[in-house]
Amino acid sequence: MGVVLGIESSCDETAAALVGHDRTIIAQAIASQDDAHAPYGGVVPEIAARAHAERLAPMIESVLREGGMELAALDAVAATAGPGLIGGVMVGLVTAKALAMAADIPLMAINHLEGHALSPRLAEPALEFPYALLLVSGGHCQILRVEGVGRYRRFATTIDDALGEAFDKTAKILGLGFPGGPAVERLAREGDAAAVPLPRPLVGSGEPHFSFAGLKSAVLRAHETGRHADADIAASFQQAAIDCVVDRLRIALDTMEPVSALVVAGGVAANAAMRSALEALANARGLAFSAPPPRLCTDNAAMIAWAGQERLAIGVTGDPLDIAARPRWPL
Ligand code: KG4
Ligand code: ZN
Repeated sequence: MGVVLGIESSCDETAAALVGHDRTIIAQAIASQDDAHAPYGGVVPEIAARAHAERLAPMIESVLREGGMELAALDAVAATAGPGLIGGVMVGLVTAKALAMAADIPLMAINHLEGHALSPRLAEPALEFPYALLLVSGGHCQILRVEGVGRYRRFATTIDDALGEAFDKTAKILGLGFPGGPAVERLAREGDAAAVPLPRPLVGSGEPHFSFAGLKSAVLRAHETGRHADADIAASFQQAAIDCVVDRLRIALDTMEPVSALVVAGGVAANAAMRSALEALANARGLAFSAPPPRLCTDNAAMIAWAGQERLAIGVTGDPLDIAARPRWPL
């Protein structure tokens, strides 16, 4: 019935999933390494790579068992081949190569960003190309026009920090631990978003790029004054970040050729306040709005398996076994 095994190991989640060409997620497993990295306040690449090496093979075995699938019956094995922390990417990609070779099935070396970019189509069959995509995660902050599988045009990127990074740094300043995004969102619900004056970097500029370093520094200064409640800082930061994103998206949508939908993906797309601001923007522009469920927004293997399915569907037959893992790999 056309099943692809997906493998994700580019950051701090080890994940494996079986996805059918009819979009069924047949089985999936995900192990986060938050506890291992929390003492350092961020992901330590060496610790991440070792954890992937320990966990991945048994995880794949259990996903195959749960899905009742033999390796040889798979249509392909798809693994993230970059961009990401190179040690972890290599663990996933080399594992996929070994499985593809042993079972004589195609290997799909997937760009992690393509996984995020196509993930909304896994959740929503009706979502057609072209769509405008806001891709916001811990490592990436981009606006793309997704025109087809393998056809991505970038309209904006960040000139310093990614949006997820800004959430994580704000969390660190407020002593909320790691990863910070969900904690900042929780605390923000109890605060006043207008209480702390914070900058909106680049808002109003004609180029649709992002910048969050100045916002983070302003959060640090506001915290150091001791005059503001942490919840007010969290809420004001989140609102400033949302205002920046909405303004930048407006410029990008004005610049690009028409699209049918506005789509958000990546870890920060799990943020409910962000989702509702984007939905309002889409409504105002007469665009459909789509955001994958939060578990498909943060790193996962179902989106990697799905990207493999999408590539199979356009006739890609696989990647060579000597394909390299890439720490940097723009879409
Ligand atoms: O896509 P992802 O899992 O990994 C990368 O490819 O980077 O994104 C992780 C990022 C982290 O920075 C995390 O703090 C952020 O997404 N994040 C959130 C939320 N959930 C995750 N940021 C804001 N609000 C959230 N609810
Ligand atoms: Zn990601």
